[in-house]
Amino acid sequence: MSAAETTNPEFRFTQTHFRQIASTVEKITGNNFPDSKQTLVYSRLVRRLRALNLQNFDDYIKLVNSANGQNELHQMAEALTTNVTKFFREDHHFTHLKNKILASLVARAKEGGRVRIWSAGCSSGQEPYSIALQILQALPDARAHNVRILATDFNTKVLSIAKRGCYPLEELSGIPADMRNAWTEKHSEHFEIDDAAKNMIEYRPLNLMESWPMKGPFDAIFCRNVMIYFTQDIQAKLWSRMVALLPTNAVLYIGHSERISGDATKLLALDGITTYRKVERASA
Ligand SMILES: C[S@@+](CC[C@H](N)C(=O)[O-])C[C@H]1O[C@@H](n2cnc3c(N)ncnc32)[C@H](O)[C@@H]1O
Repeated sequence: MSAAETTNPEFRFTQTHFRQIASTVEKITGNNFPDSKQTLVYSRLVRRLRALNLQNFDDYIKLVNSANGQNELHQMAEALTTNVTKFFREDHHFTHLKNKILASLVARAKEGGRVRIWSAGCSSGQEPYSIALQILQALPDARAHNVRILATDFNTKVLSIAKRGCYPLEELSGIPADMRNAWTEKHSEHFEIDDAAKNMIEYRPLNLMESWPMKGPFDAIFCRNVMIYFTQDIQAKLWSRMVALLPTNAVLYIGHSERISGDATKLLALDGITTYRKVERASA
């Protein structure tokens, strides 16, 4: 009997159920589920069984594999994404953006040039809003210039939260005071991000495993705490696809526990903590 069966007796959940679900979701989102995730998978999906009034996991697996279960298949994959995020997470990236990148981007924008940043795996929006606030500090009328942030995620539920731009008051302290005062509005139970930031961001559903409609180039890509869920193989392919959208000198910010792998390593040079610059060719 597995840990999930022991601790969660409401529905029988065997190793076979777990592996069937894990391999189905891996094919869709690329997210990898080692055996240690069995309890997590159970606890995320038990709500789906209840919502659908199903009696067991056999029926649930049958449903997601059936022609009319495609909507539920997507819901299942969404339920198994991890969306933890926060404002100015890994703040050295925002310091790098401010001190090493923004001056030239702002100068270009003021001359009528195009500035693009991609937040890939943006979750509920705290990452793209942090980027937007950092830009607004340097260029308060950014929206009047050709400056845009593309923010994408597989999970449409977190994208809806992102688009609203309203967050619980507890999260407000994560935003540096100067930006908080200038670009947020406090209400009794939540706070709202200013339209100046909202209007700079385009939110789009995008599964990184599929083809990408955008061609870039991007001046910076934030892809942080997303790749850790993928297998090494998929990571290497995705890094290469991202690097292809970066012109020389553009920047890739990755999560603290992530590592560039595959061909992309030949085109990136370390420029700070988990921060890479695109180079012409291998520097080492
Ligand atoms: C842990 S959050 C990271 C959020 C933010 N980048 C940060 O560092 O705070 C990971 C995000 O990646 C998204 N994700 C996972 N697999 C994905 C895929 N195949 N395509 C697009 N987004 C994916 C999840 O939905 C989730 O919102």
